[in-house]
Amino acid sequence: MNILVIGAGYVGTTTGLVFAELGHKVTGLDIDSRKIDSLNKGELYFYEPGLEDLLINHLEKRNITFSTNVEKGIHENDVIFICVGTPSNEDGSANLSYIEQVARDIGHYMNGYKVIVDKSTVPIGTSEKVAQWIIKNRLENHPFDVVSNPEFLREGNALHDALYPDRVVIGSSSERATSILKELYKSMTCPVIVITPRSAEMIKYAANSFLAMKISFINELARLCDKLNINIQNISHGIGLDKRIGPNFLQAGVGYGGSCFPKDVDALLDTGFKYDTNLSILEKVVKVNKTQYLYFLERARQTLGSLKQKRIALFGLSFKPQTDDLRESPALYIINELLAENAVIKVHDPIAKLPLDIQMQGVVQYTSPEETAKQVDAILIGTDWPQYKELDWKEIKTNMRTPYVFDGRNMLDANKLKEFGLIYQGIGYK
Ligand code: UGA
Repeated sequence: MNILVIGAGYVGTTTGLVFAELGHKVTGLDIDSRKIDSLNKGELYFYEPGLEDLLINHLEKRNITFSTNVEKGIHENDVIFICVGTPSNEDGSANLSYIEQVARDIGHYMNGYKVIVDKSTVPIGTSEKVAQWIIKNRLENHPFDVVSNPEFLREGNALHDALYPDRVVIGSSSERATSILKELYKSMTCPVIVITPRSAEMIKYAANSFLAMKISFINELARLCDKLNINIQNISHGIGLDKRIGPNFLQAGVGYGGSCFPKDVDALLDTGFKYDTNLSILEKVVKVNKTQYLYFLERARQTLGSLKQKRIALFGLSFKPQTDDLRESPALYIINELLAENAVIKVHDPIAKLPLDIQMQGVVQYTSPEETAKQVDAILIGTDWPQYKELDWKEIKTNMRTPYVFDGRNMLDANKLKEFGLIYQGIGYK
């Protein structure tokens, strides 16, 4: 099939490449010509393991091409995926202006039947709005269907998640569109569910909110475990073995970040507010998350005293490992708090770059963790990059001013570090 993917961001680029891999002819479209130029050269402008190789491969085979030509893209493709951003408005609601623009363009340039597939995360009822926007801007009376097909891939695992999803959700009320979508996904072995567009939109928000809730639950419990001298890791393991609970998303730490959970939980809360339904559990999920990095720092203060003029090494900047994405990263919140307290901050991240405004405030990024840790009073772990586990902690300790390690991701082997004379403290984990 010929597929147009509008929006060459994280989800759009991955989606396009996965459909190319599944044997379709794909055009990736974006208004940002720098992104398009970079992708056409085979250069991924963001970090995501495995994706650049796939990009080069499918560019060479001419299975995918990238363009800024909206009219041509819509003319030449009958299946159009919408993968543009839906950032948060000030009040937490989702900003649909990019989606609306795409719908207008489709209305304007459509030249025959089109199936418009929304993969962007959008509030419940958006499929209907997209249809209205198309009708309003349609120059000729061509038929079309709007389908909601949410994406569940994680940054850092995008390729694997998109190629081997747990499920495919098709929100469609048209048999014609449903059969096209089923054909597209026919090589996938996972369950494919067909439901209404509204239900599909709700599934996306419900899934992200539920995962965020698991994280806030375990983080709040970790605070109690600290008081009771119980290891939260053992609790996560013990409850995770119950198949009804499951082992994932029970890793206590400094809280969730990224471009999805914070935004999507806010958007669902906003929907609840608009429909006069108080989603009180989600309100607490947000509250716990917003205070979790503060709790982490408070625990460090209880051990170190005031952080003023303390020399701190922060390991990890990105909101999770295997990505350079800094959006809503707890590590950045930690830096801002440390800056407000006049600590001296050195940072390391294997991939992510320290934003310029933070560099301007005197925070220095080093290329090696060992160098970062030299002459510091404490090391704080901000992101659970696996390579931090493999460091020569014995050697690192010899160059520190005082041997404190505060593990904001509960990722290090506490016993091993203690053997080397380091004073270790995790979250609900000593
Ligand atoms: C999330 C969802 O997991 C995807 O299914 C979804 O498609 C995506 O949002 C989206 O809506 O686009 P992502 O934000 O890429 O994916 O990353 P996650 O792996 O879910 O991690 C989110 C945050 O939770 C990270 O900051 C991570 O460090 C934190 N986390 C995760 C924990 O603190 N503890 C855990 O046990 C798991």
